[in-house]
Amino acid sequence: MRKIGIIMNGVTGRMGTNQHLGRSIAAICKQGGLRLHDQSLVMPDPVLVGRNEEKLKSLAADWNIDRWSTNLDLCLADKENIIYFDAQLTQVRAKSVQAALKAKKHVYCEKPLAATLEESLGLAREAAKAGVKNGVVQDKLFLPGILKLKQVIASGLIGKVLSVRGEFGYWVFEGPNPPAQRPSWNYRKEEGGGIILDMFPHWQYVLADLFGEVKAVSCTARTTIPRRIDETGAEYICTADDAAYATFELEGGAIAHINSSWVTRVNRDELLELHVDGTLGSAVAGLRECKVQPRAVTPKAVWNPDIPNPISFRDGWQTVPGTAPEENAFKVQWEMFLRHVLEDAPFPHTFLNAAKGVQLAEAGLRSWSQRCWVDLPELTLNPA
Ligand SMILES: NC(=O)c1ccc[n+]([C@@H]2O[C@H](COP(=O)([O-])OP(=O)(O)OC[C@H]3O[C@@H](n4cnc5c(N)ncnc54)[C@H](O)[C@@H]3O)[C@@H](O)[C@H]2O)c1
Repeated sequence: MRKIGIIMNGVTGRMGTNQHLGRSIAAICKQGGLRLHDQSLVMPDPVLVGRNEEKLKSLAADWNIDRWSTNLDLCLADKENIIYFDAQLTQVRAKSVQAALKAKKHVYCEKPLAATLEESLGLAREAAKAGVKNGVVQDKLFLPGILKLKQVIASGLIGKVLSVRGEFGYWVFEGPNPPAQRPSWNYRKEEGGGIILDMFPHWQYVLADLFGEVKAVSCTARTTIPRRIDETGAEYICTADDAAYATFELEGGAIAHINSSWVTRVNRDELLELHVDGTLGSAVAGLRECKVQPRAVTPKAVWNPDIPNPISFRDGWQTVPGTAPEENAFKVQWEMFLRHVLEDAPFPHTFLNAAKGVQLAEAGLRSWSQRCWVDLPELTLNPA
């Protein structure tokens, strides 16, 4: 059994604690480690890093972890730690990732990779120069609903994809009662907040992986709620976008339109729903489920609002059954990254790949401010 030292920075946060520590690294330890192809076993040996000693101590105790530290440099100097992971606030990530690259650690981190495209590409170049493995969370690709949709597309049931319509979001309470269910920095632009920077990196890799690269975007957005209450109970002014309405032109000609909103009340089966229409059939996928309607069973709808509708449209869809055991999406990608580091398994979710997500977010913000379509040029590691 080989121990793998992993520095986990920002794990006192929402994503760090729940998805990365609890449901990924602790879950891998609980299952007895990760078995590699040569049949050897590796066991993650995390060191929890953050700013607040009390929080770290208590988190480490909760998860039965014996290493924690408020000194990142010391952790980076320890040769036993071969991986650096970052789930800090987006805006502070680049500095810590740079330090980790300098120390020649393999680096894995939350999305968006950094707050700007320039910073993201800079990190991709530095990682290439350091010759280390690098990766960014692209968890939506490993959700059961999206995996089923991918399977449906591959089966040919949809034919040529014509359009994708996405609805994402829910009502994020303003506070104090009930308190907001997301951290307040998300609603302050100056702290790296905003739904465009948060969600467009997800839409970029989902659209590219399932349908084709995004070639251009037209976006408008709003700061709908002007004031919210923060974690301390204090009122603050919202400076970031909390709703974005965007149309994407995809390679191959399909159009995608996705509404992302923290100011919508849910009347759908899941918090994310993608409706895909194609020449041979359609699919509606969420985080967990996917249903389909092939062309041959498509009901013949006739427009007549003067009579009650004779067709129950929802009944004309079939649920795609699961065929594989379901795993937490973050854990699946963690195991992929560990295999990438330890046995050179393929891992396409690199810094360069993730920079495309930040590129799309910047293009969306520009489209909104200039009220125009924005093209997305291909990204490379070579400086322009
Ligand atoms: N993959 C996903 O679906 C997904 C979902 C939500 C958030 N995220 C990303 O995860 C990261 C963390 O988001 P979160 O929702 O867990 O946020 P959070 O506010 O709950 O956690 C932020 C973490 O960063 C730390 N931090 C370090 N320096 C800080 C500073 N100067 N100010 C404030 N906090 C600081 C905090 O202590 C905390 O541990 C963000 O980059 C976000 O974009 C990803």
